[in-house]
Amino acid sequence: MSRTVYVNGSYLPEEEATVSIFDRGFLFADGVYEVTAVLDGKLVDYAGHTARLERSLKELKMDLPISTEELLQVHRELITRNNLTEGAIYLQITRGAADRDFVFPKDAKQTIVLFTQVKPLSAPKTGIRIISAPDIRWGRRDIKTVQLLAPSMTKMLAKAEGKDDAWMVQDGFVTEGTSCNAYIVTKDGKIVTRDLSHSILHGITRAAVLKLAAELDMEIEERAFTIEEAQNAAEAFVTAATAFVNPVIEIDNVELSGGKPGPVVTRLSQLYLEESRKAAV
Ligand code: PDD
Repeated sequence: MSRTVYVNGSYLPEEEATVSIFDRGFLFADGVYEVTAVLDGKLVDYAGHTARLERSLKELKMDLPISTEELLQVHRELITRNNLTEGAIYLQITRGAADRDFVFPKDAKQTIVLFTQVKPLSAPKTGIRIISAPDIRWGRRDIKTVQLLAPSMTKMLAKAEGKDDAWMVQDGFVTEGTSCNAYIVTKDGKIVTRDLSHSILHGITRAAVLKLAAELDMEIEERAFTIEEAQNAAEAFVTAATAFVNPVIEIDNVELSGGKPGPVVTRLSQLYLEESRKAAV
C-alpha cells in the first residue's frame, strides 16, 4: 500500500512526491537526517533526535526550515495518516536546489522530507553476527549527514560473508557499527563503548541506554576497544533507533556468550524496550 509522505509542506502519496535533480542532497550529499523509532504509535527519544538534528544543521550552517512545533506535528500526522504502530520515521533536510557549485548557495530554499517505515522493533532479538572492516568514512561522523555510501559499502562486505553487519576499525580501535553504536560487556560486568568525539555518531539510543545502565548501577567505561578485546569479552551489543539494544553473538567468526544473547544484554534490551514504551510521546 502506498504511504503518505511529507515534502516541503505537503502530504502526498509516495508516488507523487518529488525533489529537484539540482537538490544539493542529491548532488553533494549536502543534507542531514534523523531516524526516530515509533512504538505503539508514539515517538521514542524524540527530544534527543530533535536536539541532534539542530546540532547537525548548525554544524553545516543550515537552519531548521520549519518550527519545532510544526516538526513534531508532521511526525504525528505521518504516524496517523499511515496507521504506523511500530517502525520509524525518517527525516531529511538538505540545503535545497541550486545550480551546481561547490560554494554554498545564498538563497536556496531548503528541502525537507519525512516518511515512515514499518519495522518489527519490539520482536525478540536472536543476536547478530558481525565482521570487522576498515573505517573509510570522513572526519565528522558526529554530524548525521546523508553521505552513507561508505557505511553502505561496508555493510555489503558483511553481507558478502553471510554476516549481518560490520564494526568499523580505525587505528586499531572500533569506532562503531555501520549504522549503530558498538559496546562490549567485560567479564567483570563493565559496559565499554567508545567515547564521544568527531569519530562516531553521538547515538540517541546510546545516551538513553547508558543512562539506564547507570541507574542500574552498572559500571560504564567510555573508551576505545579493539576487536581482540571484543572477541574476549563476555557479551557485546549494538544500539540504534532501528535496532534498540541488539545482541552481537559473533565477531570475525569468534562466538560470544555461547553464540546466543547473554544475560546483561538481554536485560538491557528488555528494560530499554519497557522504558521506551513508557516514555514515548
Ligand atoms: N543510524 N552510528 C551510526 C553511524 C548511525 O548511523 C546510527 C543510527 C547510530 C545510532 O544512533 P541512534 O541511536 O541515534 O539511532 C550510530 C540510523 C538508525 C540509520 O542510519 O538508519
